[in-house]
Amino acid sequence: MAEFPPLVFSGVQPTGNLHLGNYLGAIRKFVALQEKNDCIYCVVDLHSLTAQLVHDDLPGQIRSIAAAFIASGIDPKAHIVFNQSAVPAHAELAWIFNCVARIGWMNRMTQFKDKAGKDRENASLGLLAYPSLMAADILAYRATHVPVGDDQKQHLELARDIAMKFNLDFAERIRAHGKGVDITVGEEPVHAFFPMVEPLIDGPAPRVMSLRDGTKKMSKSDASDLSRINLMDDAETISRKIRKAKTDPDGLPSEVDGLKGRPEADNLVGIYAALADLSKADVLTQFGGQQFSVFKPALVDLAVAHLAPITDEMRRLMDDTSHIDAILRDGGERAGARADAVMKDVKDIIGFLR
Ligand code: AMP
Ligand code: TRP
Repeated sequence: MAEFPPLVFSGVQPTGNLHLGNYLGAIRKFVALQEKNDCIYCVVDLHSLTAQLVHDDLPGQIRSIAAAFIASGIDPKAHIVFNQSAVPAHAELAWIFNCVARIGWMNRMTQFKDKAGKDRENASLGLLAYPSLMAADILAYRATHVPVGDDQKQHLELARDIAMKFNLDFAERIRAHGKGVDITVGEEPVHAFFPMVEPLIDGPAPRVMSLRDGTKKMSKSDASDLSRINLMDDAETISRKIRKAKTDPDGLPSEVDGLKGRPEADNLVGIYAALADLSKADVLTQFGGQQFSVFKPALVDLAVAHLAPITDEMRRLMDDTSHIDAILRDGGERAGARADAVMKDVKDIIGFLR
């Protein structure tokens, strides 16, 4: 049975400062995946309008995400780094997916419910359709694997639903145009134009929590800057935030089971494990029985050693905007050529004249 050629795609919004959750949950996985895969990494500027329509410095925000990708080790020559609005296919395919997806599917998205809050009638249409654009980002390249943090799982399930409905609704035409690939979904054989994307969520830190409240995820939008470690924080700031991180009065347990019901301790151990490339069990073998007064300074040293070179490189890259802009422009051209080829087939399948 044929298969779609493996292709990795992911996106990060240019809103607010990137933090340790973005780094451990997403960007570090992007870096690891590029060794063995063809990868496309996108700064999703169209999506960012759903969070804030008028940005103070959108160009600067876009460049800073691209700088974080590159400073973290992504190779923009071997792979593709670009900003979403540079490739019109994203918005175009999103429109088609708006007509494939059902309003009920969108209304069920927990992120929409959280972000829209009580006054849903007043949320933008873009916020509701956000997952449709996200599906278009991925499927405009017929990408197969998507590294993301845990919070994006539901959106990726929706991307599969959209792909599946398109494949079934247009099955005959996909066949008539000779553009499909025979895959199995569950037990079912499907002649598919769009692949069933696979989320890549696992890893030591799929969900990094706030330093102030271990039950809330670390987020760009948290009012307290003490809740997160930003990629642009200097060593002194990282140290202060970790020293002030909420903990309970007990020492660290020797077994992972002992972290149950202790979200703050669990989070700090998880962060240490992810940064050191160890399991939580390994970290507890080393620190079990110790107080936070011993563990926190060790975590500060580790976090600073890991993040300082990335922060320095980001600053260096941000000082030369023409270099970043050239990378984005080149990435946009290469991404555009690939998406256009897919869009030609989509248009033929639907029956648009071109
Ligand atoms: P965003 O900033 O919402 O565009 O997110 C960019 C990437 O970071 C996505 O893959 C998210 O799933 C991931 N991410 C965001 N916050 C966290 C977190 N607290 N822990 C782990 N991953 C996260
Ligand atoms: N929704 C993602 C987030 O907030 C960002 C995103 C947009 C994305 N398009 C994507 C992630 C495509 C993966 C693939 O984190």
